[in-house]
Amino acid sequence: MNILALESSCDETAAAVVRDGREVLSNCVASQIKEHMLYGGVVPEIASRRHTEAVSLITRQALDEAGVTLKEIDAIAVTHAPGLIGALLVGVNFAKGLATAANLPLIPVHHLRSHIAANYLAHSDLKPPFLCLIVSGGHSHIVRVEDYTKFTVIGRTRDDAAGECFDKAARAMGMPYPGGVHLDKAAGLGDPGAFTLPRPHVDGSPYDFSFSGLKTAVINLLHKAEQRGETVNTNDLSASFQYTVCDILCTRFLAAARMTGDKTLVLAGGVSANSGLRDRMDAACRENGLQLFVPPLSLCGDNAAMVGSQGYYEFLAGNTAGPDLNACATLSIE
Ligand code: KG4
Ligand code: ZN
Repeated sequence: MNILALESSCDETAAAVVRDGREVLSNCVASQIKEHMLYGGVVPEIASRRHTEAVSLITRQALDEAGVTLKEIDAIAVTHAPGLIGALLVGVNFAKGLATAANLPLIPVHHLRSHIAANYLAHSDLKPPFLCLIVSGGHSHIVRVEDYTKFTVIGRTRDDAAGECFDKAARAMGMPYPGGVHLDKAAGLGDPGAFTLPRPHVDGSPYDFSFSGLKTAVINLLHKAEQRGETVNTNDLSASFQYTVCDILCTRFLAAARMTGDKTLVLAGGVSANSGLRDRMDAACRENGLQLFVPPLSLCGDNAAMVGSQGYYEFLAGNTAGPDLNACATLSIE
């Protein structure tokens, strides 16, 4: 079954063709990052406009690169939630129009479910159940993937997402948007023990996260240094920050795995590209006899191939939509 998939939840307009949920025939992304970089973050209005301009061309490109025509497509999958509402609406409406014109089933896909599915594209042996840490720019969740379309949230952030925290800390250190990847590089050159940063807990919720206090600590540290006329070694601060975030994520993820008894752990989302997180989880899983799956770097960020993969399993479960499909800015993964 060939699925044409579309993704426009944030600042990438993406289209892909995926066969039987596991084989990527094409995966095309038109990134808007250069434009949002001017403003230090995503400007929703600009994102929607750029999606509108790019969506037809990127879809054409995905079909051409896959070497298939619309006649060889069996269904259309689209990210319908969660994300920037104006951005989502572009993909959803385009997919609805195409599905109606080509008389094809329409499959709504949850963005976080698709981040998890990025792993199915790279690891043919990965099957639910497993425990997943989803860390992206907008979300940080520990989720038990009971089946391809059945999810139980074990923990979540109470405030900022891990990626947001990376981006804000990076911005405070003068790095361009999105700062996560720049902070990761700087961390590789610094001393993780140079600064002691807070590790906020959520009382009574051992698997939840809270990152806003950590973000504020970094911003305050930089402000105070500036007021005193001191310079901060940003490589050291990056390394200490990254060490702290990864420590929080790994400790709670492993504690959740001990509680659920899962032996298969999976990382997903943009922050799963972080070298500190990958190394730390790799070492912890080896030590504890757990099997770890991580997406390849090319599939960590937003893309449409992961939507095509999850879309396949949603279709098998009968989760299709009619022409009244709407986009939602927020929606539980469950
Ligand atoms: O999943 P994603 O592409 O978009 C959302 O659904 O939000 O995640 C984007 C986030 C950004 O915050 C970005 O800075 C972060 O992932 N990110 C990283 C790295 N690469 C991307 N954070 C830390 N280290 C990285 N290497
Ligand atoms: Zn994402």
